[in-house]
Formats: sequence, C-alpha cells, structure tokens
Amino acid sequence: MAEDLTILKTASKEEKYQSIIPQIKALVEGEDDLIANLANVCAALKEQFGWFWVGFYLVKNDELVLGPFQGPVACTRIKKGKGVCGASWERAEVLVVPDVDEFPGHIACASASKSEIVLPFYLNNKMVGVLDVDSEYLAHFDDIDAKYLKEILSLING
Ligand code: SME
Repeated sequence: MAEDLTILKTASKEEKYQSIIPQIKALVEGEDDLIANLANVCAALKEQFGWFWVGFYLVKNDELVLGPFQGPVACTRIKKGKGVCGASWERAEVLVVPDVDEFPGHIACASASKSEIVLPFYLNNKMVGVLDVDSEYLAHFDDIDAKYLKEILSLING
C-alpha cells in the first residue's frame, strides 16, 4: 500500500471524489481493523477536501460515541434522536443540512460549522454508526456528496 495520496487541488467536486475513491479503496483493502480503516478514511477525505471536520460516531450502548476524526475536538457522546447525527441514526437516513442554525436540536461542537452532512454507516447490513462532515460554509453539501460518501462507506471493512 502506498501511503502518499494524490490530491487534486483545482478539480470539480465529482472529479475529486472520483480521484480519491480508488485511493481509499487501496487504503482499506486487505485491512480488517475497523478503527485503522476509519482513521485513514477521515485523513484521506480531510486531505482531499479540506473540510472543517470529518469523522465517525459509533453506536455503543445505545449512544453515539466519538470515533476517528480529523478536525477540532468534538463532543464525545450523542443520544439517539439528538442533533443531526442522532437524527440520522434514529431515522437511518442521510441528512444534508445546508444551514445548521435551521436544524432543530443541532449540536454545535464548533461555532464555525455552518453546514453538515451525516450518513448512516453500515457493516454487514447493521447500522454501526454515522459519518459526519462539517463545513464552515453554508450549503456546502448536496446529493453529489451523499452519493460518493455512501460509496466510500461501502468500501470499509472491519
Ligand atoms: N453537529 C453534530 C454534532 C457533531 S459535531 O458537528 C462534530 C450534530 O448536530 O449532531
């Protein structure tokens, strides 16, 4: 496995995903340690997209608990239905939030965060957590992110 990523600086969002996906596939292929894989996925996404925060919350004892992430320190525990992450978990739905101030119950880990996307994360058809991505820009995420991030999550073993 090569440890250096090729990062596209000026490409479109789709081109960036199309470039980073095979690299993420190579990173996680053949590795069955979940935490190692989640950590590398966060690092690769942070390096390619420069998002404010990208990380996983994992289901533990009926709560979401902070997992591997890249970005500023974040809240460690989220209850089912609370915030965007807890809502995504409860509804088992991808949530794209263009303005976090408009989302009832949004948990502000950092005031700089303005928009957010949260996706359910499944292993062996069981929802085991969520991927949360935060941006300091309003309306930063859309269906393109949802499509490609889903694809990335489907590559992860553990
Ligand atoms: N904003 C999230 C909490 C997690 S942090 O953004 C890293 C939420 O409302 O669930």
